Amino acid sequence: MHASRNRKILIVENSDSIRRDFANCLRHNGYEVLEAMDSDTAIDRLVEQRPDLIITDLSQPCVDGMAILEKASREVPMTPVIIVSETGTMEQVVMALKKGAFDFITKPVDNLAILKYAVEKGMERVLLMEQNREHQEHLEELVKKRTQELEKRTHELESEMRKRRTVEMLIEHAKREWERTVDAIPDLIALVDRDHRIIRLNKPMAKALGMPVEKAVGEKCYTHLHGVDEPPDICPHTQLLKDGKPHTIEVYEERLGGYNEIIVTPYHDPDGTLIGSVHIVRNINERKQAEEEREKLHTQLLHAQKLESVGQLAAGIAHEINTPTQYVGTNIDFLEEAFQDLAELLTKYDQLLEAAKANRVSQELIEGIEETIEEVDLEYLMGEVPQAISQSRDGIKRVTSIVRAMKDFSHPGGKEKEPSDINQIIKTTVTIARNEWKYVSDLELELEDTMPMVPCLKDEMGQVILNLIVNAAQAIGDKLGENPEGEKGVITISTAWNEEAAEIRVSDTGTGIPEDARDKVFQPFFTTKDVGKGTGQGLAIAHNVVVDKHGGTIEFETEDGKGTTFIMRLPMDKINQVPV
Ligand SMILES: Nc1ncnc2c1ncn2[C@@H]1O[C@H](COP(=O)(O)OP(=O)(O)OP(=O)(O)O)[C@@H](O)[C@H]1O
Ligand SMILES: [Mg+2]
Repeated sequence: MHASRNRKILIVENSDSIRRDFANCLRHNGYEVLEAMDSDTAIDRLVEQRPDLIITDLSQPCVDGMAILEKASREVPMTPVIIVSETGTMEQVVMALKKGAFDFITKPVDNLAILKYAVEKGMERVLLMEQNREHQEHLEELVKKRTQELEKRTHELESEMRKRRTVEMLIEHAKREWERTVDAIPDLIALVDRDHRIIRLNKPMAKALGMPVEKAVGEKCYTHLHGVDEPPDICPHTQLLKDGKPHTIEVYEERLGGYNEIIVTPYHDPDGTLIGSVHIVRNINERKQAEEEREKLHTQLLHAQKLESVGQLAAGIAHEINTPTQYVGTNIDFLEEAFQDLAELLTKYDQLLEAAKANRVSQELIEGIEETIEEVDLEYLMGEVPQAISQSRDGIKRVTSIVRAMKDFSHPGGKEKEPSDINQIIKTTVTIARNEWKYVSDLELELEDTMPMVPCLKDEMGQVILNLIVNAAQAIGDKLGENPEGEKGVITISTAWNEEAAEIRVSDTGTGIPEDARDKVFQPFFTTKDVGKGTGQGLAIAHNVVVDKHGGTIEFETEDGKGTTFIMRLPMDKINQVPV
């Protein structure tokens, strides 16, 4: 590295020869040299040219080295000043060094190497200072950059913190909003742990339990919900802890304001471990009431349909009664005539008896009797009268059984299920419905003799069987159509049972249920029949009675053009038990 290159040196020296010597030497060493013979020129040069190094005499007639030194330390503070002094001015030299002179050499400078050395040292310092400045600038740059980075980071952190604070606020807000939402739900809600302890609850639940939220936390749910010391048998939470599935029960609980539905759903921690359940307790008084209303409506509908059936059946029943009544009437007419004939004959016999007693029996009298016997056709009467009597008895029996069936059928049954003879209900219904089927069908009963009493609503089951028989007869009628030959189909009613259920089947050889109607037949008011013939209530009522009221099942098997079988199963035990 050429330390001298481009370096400017100002030489302030009064003596031309010394100055030239110095200048030559330095130029020779590659420095640019500025020369000044006096202080003023020197100061001008140093201000204008800003030399890298100054060599100045300390005290000459026109050179004031101290002034130059002072000016230099103000104007070009980095520029080293080398003092050239006469021997014997050491005191001044020391002062100059104190004031910031870099070095000094003494005159006369016999060996210019000294000057060169001092200048090189000075230049080294310049270089060092420059490097130092560069370094410092670099450091400053670095610090500035770092500071900027730090400021940026701080800014970022601040904004992140602001964001985080916003998020925290939002979370807090959401949490409160959620709590308020859960509190606003009228259902009683609680989170219950595996030990039946309440972990969290909404305000309505706390109110129902009659204690503040904070106090309810940690309490056993059954103590306050059901007022018992251990989980009740019906406890859905216990069930859930066993099988991990949701459960629902209906309870009547005075302390909870009547009928309530308790729904428990599994509650897991984030790893999927079951830690308890969410309880929702919902008051269902209104629903229960609506159910009761609906039940009442169904009963009314059933009753209406029954009245309608009775009306519809009345003509048929009248006809049914009319036939035996007619022949009983005819028989009575016959018996009356027969009695007159027999009375006439008896009168003759009476006369014969009187004559026999008086021993005056005449041929004429005997012939008279024989004539009368012939006239009244005694042989015929002796054969016919007993027949007429037994036929009449049969007729009366038939009427009696129809009347009894009518009475049975229309007798309002109890509201409670009672052990009933299903076979008898079927027989009664078949009797009163006879006129509905007898023109299109034969009816076969395959009733199980050992059938036990089945708990049921007699009245309503009679109506169901009637609906099925009427449907069967109509399906057969539809299949037979005009039927000039008077062909007939078959309706078969059978019963069977096991310990679980009593089964009733009503089969017909009718049209079968059309494919597109099969999933709708149990819907209220669904009918494929003409207006006036069907209102679509028969099977809806049957479904309501069998499924809703008896907890049984009703289904059918059907084949187009071949016929249909309705199969009903009624549970043997008490049914529709709701854990209350
Ligand atoms: N045994 C059957 N064979 C063929 N189709 C049947 C039979 N039973 C019912 N269906 C079909 O189911 C429909 C609904 O029957 P449902 O007894 O409910 O009403 P309905 O007989 O039409 O009218 P309602 O019984 O009120 O007089 C019938 O219209 C018919 O299409
Ligand atoms: Mg019907």
